[in-house]
Amino acid sequence: MIKAGIYGATGYAGAELIRILSGHSEAEVYFATSRTHAGKNLNSIHPDAPNILLQDAEEVDLEQTDVVFLCLPSASGMPIVVDALEAGAKVIDLSADFRLNDANKYKDWYGTTHLAPDLLSEAVYGLSETNRSDLEDARLVANPGCYPTSFLLPIWPLISNNIFDNSRPIIVDSKSGVSGAGRSPKQHLHFVEVSGNFQPYKIGRVHRHVPEMEQQLLSWNSRFPELIFTPHLLPVPRGILSTIYLPVEPNTKEDDIRAICSKTYTNEPFVKLLPSSQNVSLAHVLHSNLCVFGLNLTGDTLIITSAIDNLVKGAAGQAVQNMNIVFGITETCGLK
Ligand SMILES: NC(=O)c1ccc[n+]([C@@H]2O[C@H](COP(=O)([O-])OP(=O)(O)OC[C@H]3O[C@@H](n4cnc5c(N)ncnc54)[C@H](OP(=O)(O)O)[C@@H]3O)[C@@H](O)[C@H]2O)c1
Repeated sequence: MIKAGIYGATGYAGAELIRILSGHSEAEVYFATSRTHAGKNLNSIHPDAPNILLQDAEEVDLEQTDVVFLCLPSASGMPIVVDALEAGAKVIDLSADFRLNDANKYKDWYGTTHLAPDLLSEAVYGLSETNRSDLEDARLVANPGCYPTSFLLPIWPLISNNIFDNSRPIIVDSKSGVSGAGRSPKQHLHFVEVSGNFQPYKIGRVHRHVPEMEQQLLSWNSRFPELIFTPHLLPVPRGILSTIYLPVEPNTKEDDIRAICSKTYTNEPFVKLLPSSQNVSLAHVLHSNLCVFGLNLTGDTLIITSAIDNLVKGAAGQAVQNMNIVFGITETCGLK
């Protein structure tokens, strides 16, 4: 059995990860940490989670751990990553700390100095379907952000195959359930503020996921179009639905685009292209590791709709998928 250690087990992503691992035939939860609830059981905090004892991070034995998952706020887990790698464990970081490959850019966007810049070139971006061969040899996996996962998976075959017109921007309009903001209480996330309401935030090019998405686009095609990204807070607990407006050359045929996407994803268990007769919805993906997307060509704009569960394919599920790839076990193990 793969021994997995989870830091930040009481958070939304950490608790989801423990739920998934508790049904995994090849991995077990070796430890689960909490700063504020050490000594309690996880299901005293999340009643639907397994009965796992929460430990103080100082008490855990990294030497005996095969893989460490960090489900901590960005900038708080970097020393743990260094210690875990030194102890010989693989590391899968769900925070943003190892997603950007440039320490200066990290400082600009996250407002703090990176504590392990030497590891940035080694970290493998864990968008599983697009990066398997690098993940197989990875010691350190940077698990993607939730919005980037919903955008990058459907756009990957198109950007890689030059299906775009870079004289106009790509416009991404994303809506996320409230668990995307984490469990710490914040005034704008209170029930009364969110329920029955709907609003954008960080409009344009100011959300921290913009540089992460652009870094991936650049790695696939140096002439990618400008990105405009506006996230919205949807009054539901979980799920992301992104509507992507991709400019394409005149005379582009929807059947050709559909053929390229089908060829890329036909044999992928977790990414599904819907037929044009069906519309994407959160109901297609909630509590699953699926990304479901649709394509509609309108004039010279391709409208891509894409849905994921932010806590599964957008966080804990993709992290387990990446663990399965890193350890060479069946990629769907624990996820179906
Ligand atoms: N939520 C999502 O949809 C999602 C998707 C993709 C990626 N992520 C990333 O995954 C990470 C976890 O997200 P989340 O939504 O699960 O967050 P969360 O619900 O806020 O949970 C994070 C947990 O970390 C612990 N913690 C908080 N501050 C800490 C600190 N300064 N030092 C050490 N521990 C601290 C807390 O538990 P204790 O007080 O019990 O220790 C908390 O429950 C974040 O980096 C986030 O950006 C989240």
